[in-house]
Amino acid sequence: MDTLKIFCPATIANVSCGFDVLGVALDAVGDEMVVHKRTKKGISITKLEGQELPTETHLNVAGVAGLALLEQSDYQGGFDIEIYKKIKAGSGIGSSAASSAGAVWTMNELLGRPFSMAKLVEFAMEGERLASGVAHADNVAPALFGGFTLVRSYNPLDIIEIPFPSQLFATVIHPQIEVKTADSRKILKTSISLQDGIKQWGNVGGLIAGLFLEDYALIGRSLQDHIIEPIRSILIPGFDNLKSESLKAGALGCGISGSGPSIFAFSKGLETAQNVGEAMKKIYQNIGVDYDVHVSKINSQGIKILD
Ligand code: HSE
Repeated sequence: MDTLKIFCPATIANVSCGFDVLGVALDAVGDEMVVHKRTKKGISITKLEGQELPTETHLNVAGVAGLALLEQSDYQGGFDIEIYKKIKAGSGIGSSAASSAGAVWTMNELLGRPFSMAKLVEFAMEGERLASGVAHADNVAPALFGGFTLVRSYNPLDIIEIPFPSQLFATVIHPQIEVKTADSRKILKTSISLQDGIKQWGNVGGLIAGLFLEDYALIGRSLQDHIIEPIRSILIPGFDNLKSESLKAGALGCGISGSGPSIFAFSKGLETAQNVGEAMKKIYQNIGVDYDVHVSKINSQGIKILD
């Protein structure tokens, strides 16, 4: 086997209370990639469709993540990578993570799985370092593992997979503006008050417990972010209104997806998630902002082989 075509899921990082540590994979939106094993050393991005992004290996997140894997591999050859972007860059649903995670996962498959999933997270994080200046794992880990993941520790890297209830659905709206993760990180404060910390780690614990216990109400009341959301929401048109209308439409909770500008809500059941999507659309129709909406079940598998 020398070629694989894959689907690599979009992801919601942070999940409100878990800045840089929590993430979840989506089923309804993701990129496609085709990776070919070759004898010539190195990585080439041979095709990139759907977005205007660099194709030079050192400037492309898939290229950089792939090189990180090759550096630690015995394989003397290389890979050609075709990327078909369905996730918009700067949308806040893990566009760069999908490319990085997709590249290293597929290369590992084509090499006969020499690396563990934890190692793949480390390689994919190099793509995130290129994209945002910080090698965070809260998008690449759920893209690789599927479901919800918790980065318990970065040093050493310790990724925990979190189970979730089957009727949990996500609604994501992407207002058609681009917010670069690097920029939306620059505006954050570098220290927090003890009071805010207490609220935030209470919610992280509550969310994890709610997911384990399949307690939708607990999941909902834990989807609060007292630290990042008040700062970043200023960059997102209609954020407060959209959040309150989503909750009125039945969402369990609502917050910024990753570094924004996408906004996500969780609901119990597909029908409620669709109603939330309709409520979200109305807000942007009223204020004249273009948008994409995705209603998705949680992706439990991560990257999938296509064809
Ligand atoms: N945790 C990262 C951030 C995710 O919020 O900056 C970026 O998608």
